[in-house]
Amino acid sequence: MDQAVLDFKTSRENKEQDTKLWVVASGKGGVGKTFVSTSLGITLSKLGHSVAIVDLDLSGSNVHTVLGLSPSHMNIRHYFEGAKTLQELVIPTPFPHLSYVQGFWDSWTPTDFSYTQIQNLIPELKKLRADYVIVDMGAGALEAHLELFKAADEKFLITTPEPTSIEKTYRFIESFVCHSLKANATPDAYGSMISTLRNHRQRTLAKPFSFRSYLKDASGIHCDFFEALSSTPVRLIVNSSRNQANEELGFSMKSVCNKYYDLGIDYAGSIDYDNAVWQSVRVREHVLVAQPFTPLAGQFLATCKQLIAPEELRAVV
Ligand SMILES: Nc1ncnc2c1ncn2[C@@H]1O[C@H](COP(=O)(O)OP(=O)(O)O)[C@@H](O)[C@H]1O
Ligand SMILES: [Mg+2]
Repeated sequence: MDQAVLDFKTSRENKEQDTKLWVVASGKGGVGKTFVSTSLGITLSKLGHSVAIVDLDLSGSNVHTVLGLSPSHMNIRHYFEGAKTLQELVIPTPFPHLSYVQGFWDSWTPTDFSYTQIQNLIPELKKLRADYVIVDMGAGALEAHLELFKAADEKFLITTPEPTSIEKTYRFIESFVCHSLKANATPDAYGSMISTLRNHRQRTLAKPFSFRSYLKDASGIHCDFFEALSSTPVRLIVNSSRNQANEELGFSMKSVCNKYYDLGIDYAGSIDYDNAVWQSVRVREHVLVAQPFTPLAGQFLATCKQLIAPEELRAVV
């Protein structure tokens, strides 16, 4: 493992440590977080960057499955129990520059991170010896998830075009806004915002809550955080897109966020539904490895190229 760690370091050469933390989240499960996390990881690694994917999905760790690897007995539990540092758990993969941290594989009782555990984990993630650390999170807006999402340099929120997923995506965004506001509000002001939000939800199920108009009149909440959030915006990805209407969904979700939440999100683009994705999991070979020159691979390449600095584009896929 040490040799592999050294190999990963070589791609950083003598650069200062400036690991970028990318976090992949979703409101609903089964929408493609693991597929997107691993695809972003493979794409960045093909561009010559060292990447460590950290599997933090407590309910169903399967980064190893999607990468076609056997689960390692050394997993993130050893970090939380204090037996290993996070860096010691980084396992090389057969793919150049790509490593991963195995998620919980040997736990048969539901496990959950505490808020404090996540706060302690964030600096450790940023210290990992890789150009990019990609976290594959579990579904849902748990407070620990929101805290990690807030700390990310790039925040990917995955939805499918299904109404169930869209609805939970808005709920995730609302939770994220609330979580971010909490740090900028007096406890009273935050409490009264939450009760207004709850009343609103009981009355009008159809419309999102307008944080924009609420905050205009609210006292005790400093809302300049919206500007801070727009410097590292939530990047929406519509996965499993089957037609043009699905592709355009991201634009309307973006304008809903603008209108009601005053939150400028970025639509990072859509990823096609492709049977080759789940078929490749069955044969334990990632679709971007088995078929590197497809439109699907091109969609991930375009997303990565948009986000990394032009001078970082060292190689071509
Ligand atoms: N773009 C896609 N086209 C076809 N199948 C997909 C696509 N994205 C994900 N899948 C399949 O959907 C299922 C759920 O994806 P997964 O990445 O495990 O979701 P999550 O991590 O959000 O639970 C898997 O069987 C996966 O192979
Ligand atoms: Mg997953």
